[in-house]
Amino acid sequence: MGQNWVMPDNPMPHDSSPHDSSPHDSSPHDSGPGQFRADSFNPTDLFDVRGRVAVVTGASSGLGERFSRVLAASGATVVVAARRADRLESLAGEIGATALRCDVADAGDRQHLINETVRAHGRIDILVNNAGTSPQGRAEEESLEQIEAVMEVNAVAPFHLAQLAARDMLRRAGEQTASAQAAGARRTGNSEPTGNSEPTGNSEPTGNGQPSAGVIINIASMLGLVAATPIRQASYCASKGAVVNLTRELAAQWARKGIRVNAIAPGWFPSEMTESMFGDKGSEAFVSTNCPMARFGKPHELDGVLLFLASDASSYMTGQTIVVDGGWTAR
Ligand SMILES: NC(=O)c1ccc[n+]([C@@H]2O[C@H](COP(=O)([O-])OP(=O)(O)OC[C@H]3O[C@@H](n4cnc5c(N)ncnc54)[C@H](OP(=O)(O)O)[C@@H]3O)[C@@H](O)[C@H]2O)c1
Repeated sequence: MGQNWVMPDNPMPHDSSPHDSSPHDSSPHDSGPGQFRADSFNPTDLFDVRGRVAVVTGASSGLGERFSRVLAASGATVVVAARRADRLESLAGEIGATALRCDVADAGDRQHLINETVRAHGRIDILVNNAGTSPQGRAEEESLEQIEAVMEVNAVAPFHLAQLAARDMLRRAGEQTASAQAAGARRTGNSEPTGNSEPTGNSEPTGNGQPSAGVIINIASMLGLVAATPIRQASYCASKGAVVNLTRELAAQWARKGIRVNAIAPGWFPSEMTESMFGDKGSEAFVSTNCPMARFGKPHELDGVLLFLASDASSYMTGQTIVVDGGWTAR
């Protein structure tokens, strides 16, 4: 039976802006199924992040250190941030990154991180909100101070950093739109802007032609989707649940402005946060019983999803949380 899709007058109650993208955006990379040419297709080009400026918080250990190494090895210009400056300096020296000390619980530090990155590198293309903290305790005994501290680091900081980075991304996209319009006006001899230029976002070609002002990747957790018990982490679970839905809302608000926001929700991976689980018989039994793949994640098993979300390979994807947990949440 045929369907008749009738759209309401204003299907998306977003404010329009000069950065709004058009369904007719095109680039040399766009091609219909009939124009696909296997001889000129290199699938790894999709994951290209060369020349993009990436900020990774919580880069002094664990997943954040790994994300920084992966982005730097893939050709991105990386700014590594955390509180332990000595660790950052040594990582930065090793991978050719810039180290910036930042306590993400401090709003001034957050502003400084974004300002300094833009001052030193001209822009931010990729923000990885990875810094996190995960104290344990029975819900009825968690202090208000602890609950607030966890929410500040795990939820408020990613929101504020995303907001600060987005302002830079939007400013740049606006400038590029204005200069494209001015160039169009000069070409046509028309002093009025043509009004049909779209932001190109990243200074590099964006792979498949979608305008891209920037990419934000929030590191949530599978514990933002399911309970942690028998491990007791109510404030952590609340904060990660907040990150999952923050990701949706930021994505929806900024989609037409060229900013994509997605999240990764890891299961159990080795890091300082989880190190007490490794070698502990009870924890290993807990994981092998509850995880369909019956094991912890390995450090490299988040590399692919990071590059996917950071690059144009995910250009039609926003507001999503990709769960990488060996099937834990599939049960
Ligand atoms: N490992 C897992 O199994 C797992 C699973 C799901 C989600 N995650 C998430 O992955 C992210 C990384 O955690 P991880 O497992 O890699 O643990 P980790 O090794 O303990 O790393 C946490 C990082 O966050 C930084 N950090 C903590 N508080 C900070 C603050 N106030 N300001 C700035 N940086 C701060 C730490 O650096 P400094 O101490 O030097 O500041 C460290 O670099 C977290 O968001 C965590 O919730 C981890």
